[in-house]
Amino acid sequence: MKRRDLIGLAAIAALTATTALTASQNAFAQDKKFKIGFSQATTIEPWRAQFNKDIIAEAAKHPEVELIITDGEDKTEKQVADVENLIRQEVDALLISPKESAGLTGVVLQAIDAKIPVFVLDRNVETDKYTQFVGGDNKLIGRAAGEYAVELLGGAGKAQGNVVEIWGGMGTQPAHDRHDGFHEFTDKEPGIKNLLDQQSGDWKQDQAYNIMANALRSNEKIDLVYGHNDPMAYGAYLAAKDAGREKEIKFIGIDALPAEGVTWVKNGELTATFLYATPGAEGLRQAIKFLNGEKVEKTITLPTEKVTSENAEAILKSKGM
Ligand code: FRU
Repeated sequence: MKRRDLIGLAAIAALTATTALTASQNAFAQDKKFKIGFSQATTIEPWRAQFNKDIIAEAAKHPEVELIITDGEDKTEKQVADVENLIRQEVDALLISPKESAGLTGVVLQAIDAKIPVFVLDRNVETDKYTQFVGGDNKLIGRAAGEYAVELLGGAGKAQGNVVEIWGGMGTQPAHDRHDGFHEFTDKEPGIKNLLDQQSGDWKQDQAYNIMANALRSNEKIDLVYGHNDPMAYGAYLAAKDAGREKEIKFIGIDALPAEGVTWVKNGELTATFLYATPGAEGLRQAIKFLNGEKVEKTITLPTEKVTSENAEAILKSKGM
């Protein structure tokens, strides 16, 4: 199946699940104890579709919860309007995975002013007045990717190579942390040269393809690509393949969705990816815990895992794939 078809299917699956949940909500809404709103940044990316599936599956285990999911459609203005709407609906808790930090901070503060506990998931906002943050440690993941890149390029003190880094969205903390962590390792290596200066593919495969196609045209030697997520690492791989140069290059990504990153590693298309678990299930569990009067920690950090040809197949097997 083509990748575009896969994305389409994932989006349809997410939409169907959302609709189904809303239908059952209507029947039982009166009996529900907690109305929880979740403002999702977008559903066009596979990782987001998985995130929604995870939160919907968790909600299904809690009959006392009515979950309302909105889709920001990858636009800050749309997501701001979604949150304003959830505030008007007087949700008992607000979960938000912001498209970007700055643009969503104001409306998050509005929710907090309205005494709605806010759970920030995956990407942050520019305030710490929220109730809790749940997400991966992007600095740590960046460091793990940087350490592995140095190893792939010859080892600490002797690493040699030209590196293409493709940034995620510039207005997001994960992109900055993934960059900073990576460079803590690669910048120590005088033999490593960075070919690009802050080029963002905005987390998208097609944009990364174009960045890489240009980089391939301007550079005769590229040794390693670091994409801030798997779709971008894979987009770069496809560009290299179309130029007949994919065999000379190592590709590192982040996310490790089974049907994407892990499969691409198993196929030998990506060299490695690092798990960035979705905070869907844990975020909802934490919000429910809080609404039940229990204390929650300020930050919950989800674990990561390095995926290479050594463990990719075992991971897929463990998922029944
Ligand atoms: C999906 C995504 C993931 C990435 C995360 C970072 O929108 O781009 O691929 O890991 O967001 O916030």
